[in-house]
Formats: sequence, structure tokens, C-alpha cells
Amino acid sequence: MSKRFVGIDFFCGCGGMTAGLLKAGVDVRLGVDIDPICKDTYEKNNGVPFECADVRTNLRTRITRALEKKHNRPVIFAACAPCQPFSKVRKSGVKKHPDTNLLNVFLGYVLVFKPEYVLCENVPQLESSTKGKRIIKKFLKSLSACGYKSDVGVVNAADFDVPQNRWRLVIMASRVRNVVKVPDGPTAGAQPVVREAIGNFPPLFAGERRDDVPNHWAAKLETKNLERIRAVPKDGGDLRSVTMRLRPPSRKNFGHYGHGGFFDVYGRMKWDAPAPTLTTRCNSYSNGRYGHPEQDRAISIREAAALQTFPDNYVFHVGMQNDAAKLVGNAVPVNLAFHLAKFLLNGR
Ligand SMILES: C[S@@+](CC[C@H](N)C(=O)[O-])C[C@H]1O[C@@H](n2cnc3c(N)ncnc32)[C@H](O)[C@@H]1O
Repeated sequence: MSKRFVGIDFFCGCGGMTAGLLKAGVDVRLGVDIDPICKDTYEKNNGVPFECADVRTNLRTRITRALEKKHNRPVIFAACAPCQPFSKVRKSGVKKHPDTNLLNVFLGYVLVFKPEYVLCENVPQLESSTKGKRIIKKFLKSLSACGYKSDVGVVNAADFDVPQNRWRLVIMASRVRNVVKVPDGPTAGAQPVVREAIGNFPPLFAGERRDDVPNHWAAKLETKNLERIRAVPKDGGDLRSVTMRLRPPSRKNFGHYGHGGFFDVYGRMKWDAPAPTLTTRCNSYSNGRYGHPEQDRAISIREAAALQTFPDNYVFHVGMQNDAAKLVGNAVPVNLAFHLAKFLLNGR
């Protein structure tokens, strides 16, 4: 029993948060997620049982059982409630989305079990919508009434040993510490870059799946997109350098240059910079700056996983490439979870 803490991971997905918690010395006893496709990947890589359930059902008995025989070790509850309702790429109104209150559902479990530590991760847009602000305020107020000290802050994963710019809202709380502070600057060294993460994987063609490297699968490209990526300059180029004929209708009228995200789609990553934020479509050339820095294809699932700091032997046990991309893009980068947990649990 070398692990000093015991944990439960709510909304565990394929296990990015869990893998980081395990690395930080947490004996994770259970992961809960509504999506059955996460199960094999979660359990086989982490050796932690997966409960396929909606957190809105009553999971108290299951959680009580998971926390048995913890031998007085402090408990951490982690939660990455789904971010879609608040994410930048979502156009529909916040109010309509049924997942909006899942943070409150998680709060219900915290108030019942009173874990010593709480760690939440979400998209920063949670804090910038009126409804999101209200949800956070209520969450922190309820924690405070229950004796928790807490802090909320926005961090960039690139400052936590992750080769990716990925801004996230973090909530930390503890009822056994007098001071709780979300780190406001780098906790690791210099920001790692794309080259360090994916520079050594064997080359691939668009549409190729290699069996010798797990999940080194690249999406097929239709003829037009192959033409586009061949024309986009290596190492950070984008559609601004290609002829009008090759630009898709939605990207023809560049008008004002300088609106970053607009040019990212169909772009290539830069070797010596952190990657852009990976999403659930991170294997798709037409969904972001997901072009390989020099090969004529989008990044493979394995490369996306490496940019999320999953170890190379973390296998995604799903048949469909788009399912694997969803699991990878949704995950909390392992190193971000590790550094945040270490910071919260060790008080620094
Ligand atoms: C941002 S992802 C979590 C990523 C995960 N923590 C990781 O590090 O890999 C959010 C997860 O919430 C799950 N989810 C959504 N609604 C849920 C619900 N009502 N109950 C349980 N899980 C839910 C989704 O299936 C998704 O896997």
C-alpha cells in the first residue's frame, strides 16, 4: 500500500485524470463514466474498475464500497464534468444543454462523502458565461459552508509539462488545509514542444494504420484535402499560402488576416512550439490545425495521445478511429492531472 491517498474519478473517460492521479500517489479505486466505449481503455491501462453509469443515478452504495478499507488515508474526488455546454466551438445556448448541472450533481457526492480533497477541471468558458459563473459560485459557496477552503483559476497545460496550449479552468478544494491555491504559473520547466512528443514516430500515409505502434492510425484524406495539405508549407503553414482554388468556400474570404482560429483549420502544427488545443476531432485535418508538421496527413491517434502526454504504451481499445479521437481529445492531459494533484495534495 505505497499510495498515500485514495481517489474516485467522476467523468473518468478513457483515464487521463486517473493516470495522472495514479502517478501522483493516489490509489484510484473507481472511475465513473456514462460512455461504455471508455471501459476497456480505462481498465486495461490503469487497472482501476470502471462503473458505466450516469452520475445522476444514485451511486452512493457503489462509492461507499469503493472506499472500503482505505485505512485512514485521505480521499480525493476528481471531476471533469463534460465541457461541451461551455466550449468555444459550441454555438447553441448554454441553457439548452442537459449536462450543464453535472458539476452540481458532483457537488452532491462531495457533500455526502466529504473527501479531504476535491479537484475539478473544465473549460475556461465555464467562468465567462453568466450561468457558468453562477454554477461556480454556488459550488464554492456550498464547499465553504461544509468547511472547505478552495480556489479557482485558469491554467495553460503547456506550463505543466504538456506540449499543447490547452487553457483550463481548475477548481481545487480541501477541508484539511488552511490554504488552497491553484498554481498561477509554471510548475514544470520550459514548455515542451511538438517535436519532443511526436518527432520519433514512424512515418505514415493518410489513411494508413500501422500495427507495430499502438493506435498509430492516420485518417484518410479526400483528394481535395490531400492537394491542400501538399500545398501548405511544412512546419506551421496554413491556407494563407495556398491558391484560392484550393481554399474551401468557408475559408476563401480571408479579408482581415490575424483572426488566429480562422487560419488554423487545414493548417500544420509547428515542430518547435506547443500543439494547439486538441479536441474530439483531433485526427481530422479539416477540424483544426491538426496537420502533421511535415507529412501530408493529419496527426495519428498515437501522436494525439502523445500530445496529451499519455505514455506510448497506453492503448486505446476501440475499433473506430473517430471513437479513439474522441477519447483522446476529451481527456485531461496526464501530466496536467499529475502536477495539479501533486500541488493540491502536497500543498505546493
Ligand atoms: C471531459 S470528459 C472527461 C475526461 C476524463 N476525465 C479524462 O481525463 O480522460 C467528460 C466525460 O463525461 C462523461 N459524461 C457525460 N455525461 C455524464 C453523466 N451524466 N454521467 C457520467 N459521465 C458522463 C462523458 O462520457 C465524458 O467521458
